[in-house]
Amino acid sequence: MKAINVGLLGIGTVGGGTFTVLKRNEEEITRRAGRPIRITAVADKNLELARKVAGEGPRLTDDAFSVVTDPEIDIVVELIGGYGVAKELVLKAIENGKHVVTANKALLAVHGNEIFAAAQKKGVMVAFEAAVAGGIPIIKALREGLSANRIQWLAGIINGTTNFILSEMRDKGLPFAEVLKEAQALGYAEADPTFDIEGIDAAHKATIMSAIAFGVPMQFSAAHVEGITALDSVDITYAEQLGYRIKLLGISRMRPEGIELRVHPTLIPAKRLIANVEGAMNAVVVFGDAVGPTLYYGKGAGAEPTASAVIADLVDVTRLHTADPEHRVPHLAFQPDQVRDLKV
Ligand code: HSE
Repeated sequence: MKAINVGLLGIGTVGGGTFTVLKRNEEEITRRAGRPIRITAVADKNLELARKVAGEGPRLTDDAFSVVTDPEIDIVVELIGGYGVAKELVLKAIENGKHVVTANKALLAVHGNEIFAAAQKKGVMVAFEAAVAGGIPIIKALREGLSANRIQWLAGIINGTTNFILSEMRDKGLPFAEVLKEAQALGYAEADPTFDIEGIDAAHKATIMSAIAFGVPMQFSAAHVEGITALDSVDITYAEQLGYRIKLLGISRMRPEGIELRVHPTLIPAKRLIANVEGAMNAVVVFGDAVGPTLYYGKGAGAEPTASAVIADLVDVTRLHTADPEHRVPHLAFQPDQVRDLKV
């Protein structure tokens, strides 16, 4: 069966995780995608690292533009991050008829309207499950699972770094700066951790969720953004004594006057499920008029959780890309005509 060819831009933590998971779960992924998914080109400034992670199989280059214009490539996976060259590359890939899978929340929150308009015009897909809440399939939940609902509000812990900092400050009484260093060492924090601690990363993700939930364009500039830098250990202690936890929440709500979009530290009663989301974990509550409250929980950062979302998008795009009617419908993940006894 002909493989779908993927060009990967950026071989950092998530790129490495994508290679590992694609290889480990090749059989399942191929079955679900309907055909093999092959990374055939990798672009990174660090060719030595690219060789170490990707091996000798794919074409390795430090010229990312040669990948997005490569006629052999069907899907471009953008894992470079940031608003700069990543934007040029994504637009170039779209111009060249490639589908795009990206984990770049900053790019989509700020330039998403332009990018999606270009993709619609060209008839290609831009998939971005990995951009929000790492491994939690929250975009698919909002867009597909809850598509019957009028979403009334959503609220989430969508930045692992700040949740880790708040948890460690509370549990171990450690100072802010020390825990931030630990979060950086663990690979949770952004290249510029200001984005995490000032609430900007959470606002990028809330902007994206809000657009999908309420059917409005991305409006990052309209978000109220407040991070955790003004918090002190004493705030956390007092909150605890009053029966509350402080969490940095990204909130979006349908109001008669418009869509509210905000990120700020929030006092949550300690008994609530979301108040007990600890460490770098993420959780999002979505309230739909038909379904009521729903809760999504999981790892919001890290190599394999984020790769899990990147590959889920690759599977979706591969199925939608194929002209084969059998593979255009959602996959069953099993062959109904191959009966095997279940081991119990
Ligand atoms: N810096 C982000 C976080 C990484 O801490 O959640 C995942 O988007």
